[in-house]
Amino acid sequence: MAPRPDQPTLASALVPEQPTLADLVAAAARCQACELWSSGTQTVFGAGPPEAELMLVGEQPGDREDLEGAPFVGPAGKVLDRGLRAAGIARDQAYATNVVKHFKWTPRGKRRLHQTPNAAEQAACRPWLDAELAVVRPKVLVALGATAATSLLGRGFRVSRDRGRFVESSLAPYVLATVHPSSILRSRDDDERRAAMDGFVADLAVAASVLRGQGATPFAAEDGP
Ligand code: URA
Repeated sequence: MAPRPDQPTLASALVPEQPTLADLVAAAARCQACELWSSGTQTVFGAGPPEAELMLVGEQPGDREDLEGAPFVGPAGKVLDRGLRAAGIARDQAYATNVVKHFKWTPRGKRRLHQTPNAAEQAACRPWLDAELAVVRPKVLVALGATAATSLLGRGFRVSRDRGRFVESSLAPYVLATVHPSSILRSRDDDERRAAMDGFVADLAVAASVLRGQGATPFAAEDGP
């Protein structure tokens, strides 16, 4: 039966069989599984090498990402780049993506203010992340911030308590969460910013140790999700 116009096609129905990342990018560009497609400029799909050992998962694209069509290219992306570099991880060898692939925002004067995507929007978008995981099959997954962490690891997960250590998950052999890089930008002063950055780099260094083959035993089986 053809879907009624008021019933959006589920993202899972758009995911091609045995896709490449390019197939997923093309299919996700048509996604209207939640309302966010109508206010975002475009779908911002993940980016990075399909053979990446590290997958970074953020919340949703921001203003810059929405305009440029690529994840983590705005101010938070610059902080992420600095953190990765300090932890000895090459950004261009990581696959970066988001739990939600359209920018959710509300107008404030001439600015577009970020709004956190709700659980229904996260769930509507989840087939895309699952498809990315199935193609990339990262060895290490790093959830950036509370939205990504609770979306991927459950509502009981607390970034403040559980950050920087591997947790058991079927998503990848090694999974950990850290703060969102935009939280570092919100620091109240230089001391707080420096401490926040140090903590972020320390968490990323835990991921880096595994990428260098010096890490702990994985929780999940190597065959991933
Ligand atoms: N914040 C995110 O969570 N993801 C992006 O791509 C940019 C900012």
